[in-house]
Amino acid sequence: MKTFNVGLIGMGTVGTGVASILLEKNSPLVEKLNCVPVLKGIADSNPEVRKKLKLPSDVLFVNNAKELIGNPDIHVIVELVGGIHPAKEIIMDALENGKDVVTANKMLLALHGSEIFSKAQKHGKSISFEASVGGGIPIIAAVRDGFIANRIESIFGIVNGTTNYILTKMTRENVKYSDALSEAQKMGYAEKDPTMDVEGIDSSHKLAILARLGFGVDFDYKQIYCEGINNVDLSDIWYAHELGYTLKLLAIAKRTANNNIELRVNPTLLTQEHPLSSVNGVFNAICVNGSAVGETMLYGRGAGQMPTASAVVADLVDVALGRAGITFAAMKTFSRHCERVQIADILQVKTRYYLRFSVVDKPGVLAKISGSLGDNEISIASVIQHKVKGDGNVPLVIMTHVAEEGKLRKALSEITKLDVVKDQTRLLRVEE
Ligand code: HSE
Repeated sequence: MKTFNVGLIGMGTVGTGVASILLEKNSPLVEKLNCVPVLKGIADSNPEVRKKLKLPSDVLFVNNAKELIGNPDIHVIVELVGGIHPAKEIIMDALENGKDVVTANKMLLALHGSEIFSKAQKHGKSISFEASVGGGIPIIAAVRDGFIANRIESIFGIVNGTTNYILTKMTRENVKYSDALSEAQKMGYAEKDPTMDVEGIDSSHKLAILARLGFGVDFDYKQIYCEGINNVDLSDIWYAHELGYTLKLLAIAKRTANNNIELRVNPTLLTQEHPLSSVNGVFNAICVNGSAVGETMLYGRGAGQMPTASAVVADLVDVALGRAGITFAAMKTFSRHCERVQIADILQVKTRYYLRFSVVDKPGVLAKISGSLGDNEISIASVIQHKVKGDGNVPLVIMTHVAEEGKLRKALSEITKLDVVKDQTRLLRVEE
């Protein structure tokens, strides 16, 4: 049995899961392979971690990552520290020291991917990152290898379990956003500071990684349009349902007609028949549409200790078998030949829209709003206005046909000035 030595940096939840798979006595890896990754060393700044782990005596435990990076017996470094610093320095050091790298760090790859990939190319080493998107779902391998014969037309899906849990709870149990968030925090899905998840930032990091791999291009991460679920109102979920739609936070990457790319994260109305509408709770699912394969969907647990550890260990096996190095060196997307493109401005996006106005209930209001939409070439598909008790403002919901967002926003800026329109208008994009 050949072995390949692993140095694990960062022993949080996922690191502990990776260690438990690598240390398992009757491991499926040993059953299936004649070359296996072996845990050689662990680095973590917290000495308490060592006591909890009950490590065998031949596994080193150090508190400084440099001791593993400089160890000539270690062939691959797993970075599970997260965040930008010191994770970036750890990866750069590991590459300079001739180690391949496995990471789950989506933020680092989204923001500094080009720099890290070039460094790896320069040193003839590889970066593997299956665990950065979709937890245990092998979406990176699918897009990189399985769909290599395809021109990818679109990749879109639910890539954040926390927000999907919150939206599912709001939809099924009719609870408002803040209560669903508190429940997600109680269950341990949402962090105490939930910003990264609820504002869509985590999804945009994952989208950047998928788009780079799928379209084979580089771009400025900051150009990705990102809108989270923190302003979703329960009433929008009811109206969406009445119109035959489900509300989901989607990460969307599309090639557009003029060969531009559209990258955005936003709460989206999906028809109830769409398979993503049935993806509930903390589950993730990603649809990939390729020129040869057509429509596909991958589904599974997008986070959690063992699903994410499963993805990290799959990468380790790729490195141990030599596949990671061959693939990484061969793919233009990881090289300096990767084309840098502009992401389409959100104002150029063409889709259908859901609009919820708060209006005074009197004759002529609908005519004024529809007049303004019509003047800006926006065609109405349907309208809902329910009676409310009392003389207060009433919600007016309009679904449009496909329109360019720039034109829609122009119409909305005119409509907002009407004295019959109160409060802020809610705009949600639709995917058919
Ligand atoms: N916070 C993420 C989620 C998991 O809720 O899906 C890590 O990417």
